[in-house]
Amino acid sequence: MYDVSEIRAEFPILSRTVYGKPLVYLDNGASAQKPRQVIEAVTKAYEFEYANVHRGLHYLSNLATDKFESVRQKMMKFLGAEHSNEIVFTSGSTEGLNLVSYGWASNNLKEGDEILLSIMEHHANIVPWYVLKKRNGIKLNWIELRQDGSLLADDIISKIGEKTKMIAITHMSNVLGSINDIKKICLAAKKLNVRVVVDGSQAAVHMPVNVTDLACDFYVVTGHKLYGPSGSGSVYINKNRLKEMHPFMVGGDMIKEVTTSNVIFNDPPHKFEAGTPSIVSIIGLGAALDFINQVGLANIESYERSVKNYAEERLDELEWLNVQGNDINKGGIFSFVMDGPAHAHDLATVLDRTGIAVRAGQHCAQPLMEYLGLNATCRASFAMYNTCQEVDTLVEALKKCHKMFN
Ligand code: ALA
Repeated sequence: MYDVSEIRAEFPILSRTVYGKPLVYLDNGASAQKPRQVIEAVTKAYEFEYANVHRGLHYLSNLATDKFESVRQKMMKFLGAEHSNEIVFTSGSTEGLNLVSYGWASNNLKEGDEILLSIMEHHANIVPWYVLKKRNGIKLNWIELRQDGSLLADDIISKIGEKTKMIAITHMSNVLGSINDIKKICLAAKKLNVRVVVDGSQAAVHMPVNVTDLACDFYVVTGHKLYGPSGSGSVYINKNRLKEMHPFMVGGDMIKEVTTSNVIFNDPPHKFEAGTPSIVSIIGLGAALDFINQVGLANIESYERSVKNYAEERLDELEWLNVQGNDINKGGIFSFVMDGPAHAHDLATVLDRTGIAVRAGQHCAQPLMEYLGLNATCRASFAMYNTCQEVDTLVEALKKCHKMFN
């Protein structure tokens, strides 16, 4: 049984008020709140377990190293990877995608090669490829969406040409909530020797992910959207790609030997983790994965689907509200604009004063906004602790906004 009130009780921040109103936190696409388990793991790590990792011979350094490395095992299982050295810790998705770009693509793609990417990508999965285009002379080919905001795997597959070397694709749009058929894309790409990097920032918190089954080359996640600390994340790198990668950041902790005339790099994954990592954030991320596993991602997925379906129905009642994207396979992310003079920022401000936290603007996805012909939307994004009652609160607040501005 999924008891949402029990789950909510695990997130201390959810019981606070803002402007004297109960907090309705619907900005999970930007960052999720943290359960007590994560907060306590972070506090405990600083109070009792803290030292640098991989370096010391003393008790605390060994303890911190064990804690830190145990998260790699947890992430390996969470993502369904086959080997723990395929999990590289990062500070988040942006670093993960930069690692793929600098560490793999810049050494394996040459002038004239092409990357296919969808118009629904977040800037984190656009800018690294744009910079590579400027540096290596590669070409970027954009895939557009269907009318309902969905991206058909077949539309991508049909665009794979002789020069296509890589596909950069999100698993779930941070604006539309559309969920892409990554497995179909990867299986087709594999046959044609095309590599696929998947931005799992939004998806991995809402549904079980198995990178081995998906057959992707790279899968990027960020800790702060997984109910873990900011400054933590990881990228799955398939073992065959690991062999083709060069380090992106260099320095301490990623070497085996340094002499005045030579440097020998460490083996993966450490080869790609230069410097002191975000030790405690990664330990906190481990606690977040434990928490998600205890609730069960399949349970989370099915509960969230029921809230999403309810939200869809309720928002549909508001004929002056234009929700962007109605892919039947979408997750709990609703971006909308209101008929009339209210700008998305006006809506977000009025909602805020009623205790509802949403994001407004371009959501780090300007090409998509341009494609949709919008300069901004207001976005409500759901998590495992949101309720149908909160959907009602949102709907009532939107009705008030509509009245106020019209
Ligand atoms: N990527 C985050 C969002 O979509 C920040 O809001």
